[in-house]
Amino acid sequence: MRKLFKKTQSAWEPEKLPRHIAIVMDGNGRWAKKRSLPRTAGHAAGAETFRRIATYCKNIGIEYLTVYAFSTENWKRPPEEVEKIMQLLEKYIIEALGKMERDKVKMKFLGDVTVLSPKLKELVAEAEELSKTFDGVQVNVCLNYGSRDEIIRAVKSYAAEQIIESNANTESTKKMEETIGSLTEEKFSKYLYTADIPDPDLIIRPSGEHRVSNFLLWQSAYSEYYFTDALWPDFNEKELDKAIIAYQSRERRYGAI
Ligand code: IPE
Ligand code: IPE
Ligand code: MG
Repeated sequence: MRKLFKKTQSAWEPEKLPRHIAIVMDGNGRWAKKRSLPRTAGHAAGAETFRRIATYCKNIGIEYLTVYAFSTENWKRPPEEVEKIMQLLEKYIIEALGKMERDKVKMKFLGDVTVLSPKLKELVAEAEELSKTFDGVQVNVCLNYGSRDEIIRAVKSYAAEQIIESNANTESTKKMEETIGSLTEEKFSKYLYTADIPDPDLIIRPSGEHRVSNFLLWQSAYSEYYFTDALWPDFNEKELDKAIIAYQSRERRYGAI
């Protein structure tokens, strides 16, 4: 009997690409450990992968790429490691500034950047300002980002806005009730860091961990997840192709049938 081989799809369909891909860039430390290198070498290698993947996303026509670079919980790490990550981010932004005009990459930073070093804060502001009108791929770097923190901040800024409005109004309590009652999911999402960015279609987590780690809790309500054992520094164009092919095989139902 002839042996039957299961046909594997070798390429993704260009007309069904995810509009927005989000990635938890995880596994740098383990990658370094496997090579008896310091963890910081893993972060340097991870930064290279980020460059490659961002370029690939731009070339294949992905509209939004969101990467988790540093979480609100990552401050728990040794100060030398945190320092190295911040240095790599500085280096990345300086390079990006140099070629932004050519690549038309729009950069956004999601997270509380107010606590970063003055230099990094300045670079973040410069990159956002310089690229705000660019219409190539939009790269969102989650830096000092935590989804719970993001949601609490959104609630606070929404409430603060209503208080300011109601103070100017004589029927303040009634007005307040009305405004709180009129809060919708759509309106609320405008108070998040991701205001104006569509929800991710595909969220990739490499390194074999099957958890969310405080990443895009609100935005991922209907995202498709893709997990792979590859460590982030080993992740490449082929791995992204595999993730896109898996995504394209899924049926997104959004609660309907
Ligand atoms: C991800 O890699 C980078 C950051 C969280 C900043 P890790 O440093 O978490 O690598 P592992 O998980 O220890 O391998
Ligand atoms: C998630 O990775 C955060 C980033 C990749 C920036 P972590 O390594 O911090 O997540 P946990 O601790 O394994 O959940
Ligand atoms: Mg990790």
